[in-house]
Amino acid sequence: MKIGLLGHGVVGSGVTAITDSCAVKKVRRLEVSRILVKDEWEMTDPRCTTNVEDILSDPEIEIVAECMGGIEPAHTFVRRALESGKHVVTSNKKMFAAYCGELFELAKENGVSIRYEASCGGGIPWISNLTRIRRLEPVTSFRGIFNGTTNYILSRMARTGSDFAQNLAEAQKLGYAEKDPTDDIAGYDVRYKTAITAMKAFGAIVNAEEIPTLGIADVSADDIRWASENGYVLKLFGAGRNLDDGVSLWVMPVMTGDQQVFAHITDNFNAVESESPTLGPAMFVGQGAGSLPTAHAVVQDLLDIYQDQDAEAAYAERKTVNNDTVCARFYVRTAKPEAFADVCETGIGNGAFLTKELPLSELLAMMKGCGDEHVFAAMVME
Ligand code: HSE
Repeated sequence: MKIGLLGHGVVGSGVTAITDSCAVKKVRRLEVSRILVKDEWEMTDPRCTTNVEDILSDPEIEIVAECMGGIEPAHTFVRRALESGKHVVTSNKKMFAAYCGELFELAKENGVSIRYEASCGGGIPWISNLTRIRRLEPVTSFRGIFNGTTNYILSRMARTGSDFAQNLAEAQKLGYAEKDPTDDIAGYDVRYKTAITAMKAFGAIVNAEEIPTLGIADVSADDIRWASENGYVLKLFGAGRNLDDGVSLWVMPVMTGDQQVFAHITDNFNAVESESPTLGPAMFVGQGAGSLPTAHAVVQDLLDIYQDQDAEAAYAERKTVNNDTVCARFYVRTAKPEAFADVCETGIGNGAFLTKELPLSELLAMMKGCGDEHVFAAMVME
């Protein structure tokens, strides 16, 4: 089966590394025949082209694997591939979170499938396991660590006391971070993955911009130290709960109790947990970022298409994000602690304090109005 690969960066080069050298017979039959690259200088392989028509207009290419990242032109290329009757596999969470509803429709109209395992949790079989759970019962909630770059930074800061910038540079060198690491640091990468997970877990298509998102750009060594001295480990979480009235979804740093499994997930690893009636909590752990682990998920999707193992028809409908039921205690550090006087419960010093239990929406409103654009907050999860 001929495959046209769009993009030959961190993930795309991992795909050819696996398909070109794998000894498994079925994988040998997945032939990456053309590779789209952006510039002439990237044409390091005889299969490379800078003209997407060499892939989209080639009737022998049956699957397009999109590993370009970014919204455009990836979205247009994926649309065109589906319209011309080609299956699509994508690792692009930003594009897929924005257009999954439209792309599912298009795939259905053209009798092809679109698969996206690599878009969430890197190499972890998260999407395929949610599919299996939903064959039997609804998924009621999910939560976890969805970003390898920030987990790498936070765990290295905690372990070695090294600083944020140095660890970010290291995560970039290792191929974990996005081209523009703002998406990782500000929590947007987790926002896209949270939206995609909500679609798979709850059948809810949401506007990702409605998901309240706090990242780790303003985390300090003091926050990490306070956590470790007080029985917590700081992690960036995405979480969701299916409600009768919409879906609750949020992304923010969490002070997780140091006895919880999440506290022991370090470096580029992700850990994501679903909850459903008979299975209860089920956790999936593995490398959430990096060339080969993510490419592994892409190749698994290619194999599923090759073996005609279609995912269930994606039934999903538009839902609104509603976080009215999310209440917690929060760790806050700010240059304007007086703006939080009504909710402060325990002072910590240097502008840091723990709040009483309050709704997430109230905390977010106070953060917005406090006059400190670098205010840092984390949910406390014992
Ligand atoms: N930048 C992403 C991460 C890559 O660090 O998790 C994998 O989605």
